[in-house]
Amino acid sequence: MYRILLITALALLFAVYGQAQDWKRFFPEEDLMTVGAYYYPEHWPQEQWDRDLAKIAEMGFTFTHFAEFAWAQLEPEEGVYDFAWLDKAVALADKHGLKVIMCTSTATPPVWLVRKHPEVLITHEDGTRMDHGARQHASFSNEYYRSYSQKLIAELARRYGQDERIIGWQLDNEPRSTVDYSEDALRRFRLWLQKKYGSIDDLNQAWGTNFWSVVFSDWSEINLPQHQQWGMNLYQRLDHGRFADEETSSFLDEQARTIRQHAAEWQWITTNYIPMYDARFIGQSKELDFITYTRYMVYGEHEGLGPKGYRVGEYSRIAMANDYFRPLSPLMGVMELQPGQVNWGSINSQPLPGAVRLWLWHIFAGEGKFVCTYRFRAPIYGYEQYHYGIVGPDGVSPTAGGLEYQQFIKEVAQVRQEARQGEVPAAYAARKTGILYDPDNYVAMQQNKQTTEWDTEAHVLKYYKALKSLGAPVDFVRDSMDFSAYPVLVVPAYQQMSKPLIDKLTRYTEQGGHLVMSVRTAHQNEKGHLWETPHAAPIYHLLGASIPFYDLLRPHAPDTVVMEGERYGWTSWGDVLEPNEGTESWARFVGDFYEGKTAVTHQAYGQGSVTYVGADSHQGRLEQAVLTKLFERLNLPIENYPPGVLVEYRDGLGIAMNYSDKDYEMTLPKGSKIIIGQASLSTADVLVWRLPR
Ligand code: GAL
Repeated sequence: MYRILLITALALLFAVYGQAQDWKRFFPEEDLMTVGAYYYPEHWPQEQWDRDLAKIAEMGFTFTHFAEFAWAQLEPEEGVYDFAWLDKAVALADKHGLKVIMCTSTATPPVWLVRKHPEVLITHEDGTRMDHGARQHASFSNEYYRSYSQKLIAELARRYGQDERIIGWQLDNEPRSTVDYSEDALRRFRLWLQKKYGSIDDLNQAWGTNFWSVVFSDWSEINLPQHQQWGMNLYQRLDHGRFADEETSSFLDEQARTIRQHAAEWQWITTNYIPMYDARFIGQSKELDFITYTRYMVYGEHEGLGPKGYRVGEYSRIAMANDYFRPLSPLMGVMELQPGQVNWGSINSQPLPGAVRLWLWHIFAGEGKFVCTYRFRAPIYGYEQYHYGIVGPDGVSPTAGGLEYQQFIKEVAQVRQEARQGEVPAAYAARKTGILYDPDNYVAMQQNKQTTEWDTEAHVLKYYKALKSLGAPVDFVRDSMDFSAYPVLVVPAYQQMSKPLIDKLTRYTEQGGHLVMSVRTAHQNEKGHLWETPHAAPIYHLLGASIPFYDLLRPHAPDTVVMEGERYGWTSWGDVLEPNEGTESWARFVGDFYEGKTAVTHQAYGQGSVTYVGADSHQGRLEQAVLTKLFERLNLPIENYPPGVLVEYRDGLGIAMNYSDKDYEMTLPKGSKIIIGQASLSTADVLVWRLPR
């Protein structure tokens, strides 16, 4: 009887998750990680394809990636398709044992389409229009562009949807919001608003249009907002952003549905997003089987540590992308990773020798199942001339980064034998922390900062980096997810918060969760209106304190917060707290008219606790001190890794990585077995060991 129940339950489970689990066929758990390389057959003479694909396979890559920007070659004239060249490339990939990811080419509409229907081109806020000649110039809101895309995709899916050599599909390329001011976009925006609000009165209420006589009486009066115009309605602007993001996700969903009509179940569908933390569309397309990201580390921004740190890149960039994407997707994969110098940055320096391998291991450490490099051959013409590949412009000589990929592939093969699926040290699992995050909040705060000193991403990063230095595994979680897996949940600057979410956080805490909230949290309801109460009053029961006022300082006159004798500078945001009796005051403001008032509170709540951090400190040292104190109080085992040193665990393996400009000595527990590297790590070094058994 129980057996039957179990079988039925399992059958049901697979019926629901069957499709999403099919990726395991190509990325089996026991392989840990698979590595591929982009190849653009259309960029090279056909006589070279065999040689190139042979080389890709010989270097250890197991899959390639075709037809990403090839609409003009696939459909040279309207309705006239040419797949002969792609068939040949697929056959050659197969000859060399390479599987293929097929792309939909929609990021590069051909000139015949653009000239026949110029409306497909994105119109900017100032009325100017993009033109043919680059890529990503068509609007996701344009009906022609959408329908022509579907036709091409249907043809592709009919041709390759049952083909065993094709493992899956990548939709578009680095999809983002197309902010378009065309007629189609306006029409669709009005329809979207009607669907969202139902009545114009509800829209007026939500947008607060009594303020400044903005009031609308008909949908046709509403335009796409001018974001550059001073004082433009904040809610109209937010809704416009939400609409544009949904245009992106619905465009991808449409593509996926078309592929599914023709494709076998085991072919998976994904896309490759840029990790943008203000993008609501990441994770929004429900038709995708999983999502992937792209990463570039050295291009003239995001300096690392020390004067030459730019050559290894900023240490949180891959870490945070891993921890942001993994919880949103059943599989974490990286579709593009820089193999060397790029062409498009402000200053295109050489990465430090070893940096490419360091990044690869970092994706591995974040539980990546695959990584793919952009790109195999360095292009000899086009906008990306000077961009490095796995091989150089001669098409045959591996670059330094290419050799690092090759080394990594060999090293993964080496660690495979030592892995034990799912095993991590108990102390590591015990400090697992969630960060509650909502990109909509991010946009809302960025457009209504109250001080030029405020930077939402930097604020979140202070908590994130502190947690990484404590050695905590971190997941970025959304309000709809289950929080119970996290002994500690950090809620940084979560400005718009609904009553149901406050209730959910209250239950989490009552049941033993430890909540850490920071400045600006719950000042507004989910509509972005202030509560008709004192600031943030709906969370006062959690804080065990009230917030009589907040303050914002000038950069030339920062103040300090003092906690256990240590001073922490701050400028951007301070919530001045008034604790109730019984609530602990962990830190105080110093140096201003509210000297001595509380800056950090802590109170036991239900079986758990709530810590409120009322200041955004300069370097994140206050955030680090508060989290350290909390973890110690909770008896959670912590580490104290210096900035730039990251240590993660997966599948019975420990991985230590050094992005800093100083050497680091890793102490391994007795019984560990070093597989790769050594305990003393110089800049860009990686150490991989097997956990004690
Ligand atoms: C990415 C893009 C690729 C390629 C690459 C060059 O952002 O998705 O198509 O342009 O940059 O580094």
